[in-house]
Amino acid sequence: MQLSEEQLLRFRGDGFLVFPGLFSKAEVAVLRAETARLASIEADSVIRERTGAVRSIFRVHEDDGATRSVAFRALVRTPRVLAPTRQALGTGEVYVYHTKINTKPAIEGTVWMWHQDYGSWQRDGCPRPDMATFAVMLTDSVEMNGALYVLPGSHSRGRIEPYYDESTSYKFWAVPKQEIISVLQQSEKPVPIVGPAGTAVLFHCNLLHASGHNLSAEDRWHIYISFNACANAPQFGPTSRPDWVVSRNTKPLPLEDDAGVLKAA
Ligand code: SIN
Ligand code: MN
Repeated sequence: MQLSEEQLLRFRGDGFLVFPGLFSKAEVAVLRAETARLASIEADSVIRERTGAVRSIFRVHEDDGATRSVAFRALVRTPRVLAPTRQALGTGEVYVYHTKINTKPAIEGTVWMWHQDYGSWQRDGCPRPDMATFAVMLTDSVEMNGALYVLPGSHSRGRIEPYYDESTSYKFWAVPKQEIISVLQQSEKPVPIVGPAGTAVLFHCNLLHASGHNLSAEDRWHIYISFNACANAPQFGPTSRPDWVVSRNTKPLPLEDDAGVLKAA
């Protein structure tokens, strides 16, 4: 799948692009069965809420490690995911920085504070914001189940110095309260990424995004595939975060079979 010139311009202007129904019901069924299997694994790469429910499952795209998955490995290599990401990043040489499935369980699943992904990734040592995330919804996304919200055009502000937010079970770098209030007051309304399972969104690493509590009776399952340009890989050292969140495999990712997810069933 190739982005049109118009789509590329929209990505540059808004900082995100939505692809309604990009993956079929059959493909979503394969990925959902895998998510259910992965959620029962105990490993460092599986993060739980304080209640014990699974919040995130990292590193599902490799062929080794506790949370490896043939289906998710195939997903990140499909032309539907990889070709538009290469175009958006302006290079044919990109690799997966990390993958995570955010399972946001019914009633228990909590907030992701407003943040820019490059808030963390610059701290990891990535020199430039040549990074983007391709997210695929594995359940129907509605506002009530804690949909992802994005702030259109906010990537153009550049990186905002983050603070370390420890209020959720996955501690990370978020935008300070006074700054996000001021940005929201000056901006158009945030946009919820809603749609049937199989819908996808590609977004720039400086785009402001967040999501709320899951108040619904069903889990909200999304896979986030974060990409980096190979030329932008960080230097690794003793203080680098673990491999499951900052991948040491920085080799260019090859395009593979667009039917790979179905074949992994
Ligand atoms: C993220 O921004 O990394 C996750 C947001 C979400 O799962 O809603
Ligand atoms: Mn994020």
